[in-house]
Amino acid sequence: MLITAGPTEEPLDAVRFLSNRSSGKMGYALAEAAAARGARVTVVAGPVHLDPPAGVSVIKVRTAEEMRAAVLEHLPEATIVVKAAAVADYRVPAPAAGKIKKGGARLTLELEPTPDILAELGRMKGNRLLVGFAAETGDPIPEARRKLASKGCDMVVGNRVDREGTGFGAEDNEVVLVMRTGEVVALPRASKREVADRIFDRLLKLRHAS
Ligand code: CTP
Repeated sequence: MLITAGPTEEPLDAVRFLSNRSSGKMGYALAEAAAARGARVTVVAGPVHLDPPAGVSVIKVRTAEEMRAAVLEHLPEATIVVKAAAVADYRVPAPAAGKIKKGGARLTLELEPTPDILAELGRMKGNRLLVGFAAETGDPIPEARRKLASKGCDMVVGNRVDREGTGFGAEDNEVVLVMRTGEVVALPRASKREVADRIFDRLLKLRHAS
């Protein structure tokens, strides 16, 4: 199983970057749950401050481009890929080598999209099961459905990231699973480790159904 976790960091200059509030806890909980079920697990993680789960191999990366390279390198040995990482959507095309100095005028940053790793995997997944995440500030179901179809996933885990106590950085999560069969499963709020187990229960049902 190949799992991505955490944010990515896209440099602006020698000392600054664009990123997001992902802590990596959901991805690491998935890795722990998968290892406990006997899976051989590789995690590709952005900058996170967590101890790696026992028995799991962790590859640390920084940018979306580095995450893409590590994922593609480890894809051949994976039968299930779970993309829990909150990959930065935009980056500065050519970060300044030194520190950008302050001037009196406004500063405009021009950004370009990063590679969409999940969409790329969706095009080349073969028989693998592919799970994406959709972090949303409104109703996650329509967006999770859209991402399931546009990125070729078997399941998308939709979670709200605008609520106290769940989502980015929190210990708990409350998610809705949108399956390629059209089924939608709302899971009750629980610890990320418990949510990880419920995600795998559903994923295995899907595998046995196919
Ligand atoms: N993802 C990815 N590569 C990117 C952006 C996102 O692999 N460059 C993956 C994430 O790991 C996640 C899924 O795509 O599994 C959805 O990420 P999200 O940021 O919610 O969706 P976006 O496609 O970026 O759409 P938007 O930001 O417009 O909601």
